Amino acid sequence: MSRIVYVNGAYVPEEEAKLSIFDRGLLFADAVYEVTAVIERKLLDFPGHMARLRRSLAELRLPSPATDEEILAIHRELLQRNALTFGHIYLMVTRGAADRDFVWPKDGTPPSFILFTQARDGVESREAREGLRVVSVPDLRWARRDIKTVQLLYPSLAKMEAKRQGKDDAWMVEDGFVTEGTSNNAYIVTESERIVTRALSNAILHGITRAAILRGAAEAGLEVEERPFTLAEAQGAREAFVTSAGAFVTPVVEIDGLPVGDGAPGPIARRLRAIYLDEALRTGL
Ligand code: PDD
Repeated sequence: MSRIVYVNGAYVPEEEAKLSIFDRGLLFADAVYEVTAVIERKLLDFPGHMARLRRSLAELRLPSPATDEEILAIHRELLQRNALTFGHIYLMVTRGAADRDFVWPKDGTPPSFILFTQARDGVESREAREGLRVVSVPDLRWARRDIKTVQLLYPSLAKMEAKRQGKDDAWMVEDGFVTEGTSNNAYIVTESERIVTRALSNAILHGITRAAILRGAAEAGLEVEERPFTLAEAQGAREAFVTSAGAFVTPVVEIDGLPVGDGAPGPIARRLRAIYLDEALRTGL
């Protein structure tokens, strides 16, 4: 299957897409990205992804490649050209190409800007039906996880460690508390049915799905506590789940070999998933 992808102003077949070997995204991971979910041809939480992109660019003093309106138009063009009904659009901005140097290239070097689609069959998945089994790993990432950079080597290693153990994903732990999953935010549900998730800080990515879930939970009358939790608390919780543009809301049913609750996806995760998908579709662009 050949997709049409976007590279620096051009729509081209994926086989013809080219970036310089000197691109700083490749040599220094000097780049930020966004992943926007697509359901029934609609872009979910697009303004949220744009707001976070702006913040990531500003934090790294990366030049902006286009306005929000232009970026929306590129998303729509890619949806249409690839007849994408369900899946994602990946977007990445790098500091552009220049001879390898730790010092940034001079002002005016154009950023590299690429987008491509990834298709999926629908919103349902085995993970959503059966729940995820996760393992814990130390969180060895850098300290600015609030910036959505493409430095994904450690999360990828952590995911591979989970796969090596025959499991689905890893939760990262720092100073005794869970930070987040390899590519998702982490939550537990207490015996008194309160949803607990770590508060926003530089320690985690400020998930766009997280913001929507916390709004949806409050509207549904569910109580939310933003505070850190330990692995032991998670293992003894009634439910656990993760959220992301890829997973929406996906239950976690096992942590380091111990079942969470009765070891099956729980009603609160299921309810929040339904609330999220309804709202995201209603507000999707
Ligand atoms: N990952 N935490 C981390 C470390 C992430 O990489 C992600 C997203 C999230 C959830 O953020 P959001 O709800 O905005 O998707 C939390 C994307 C999906 C990825 O890397 O594919």
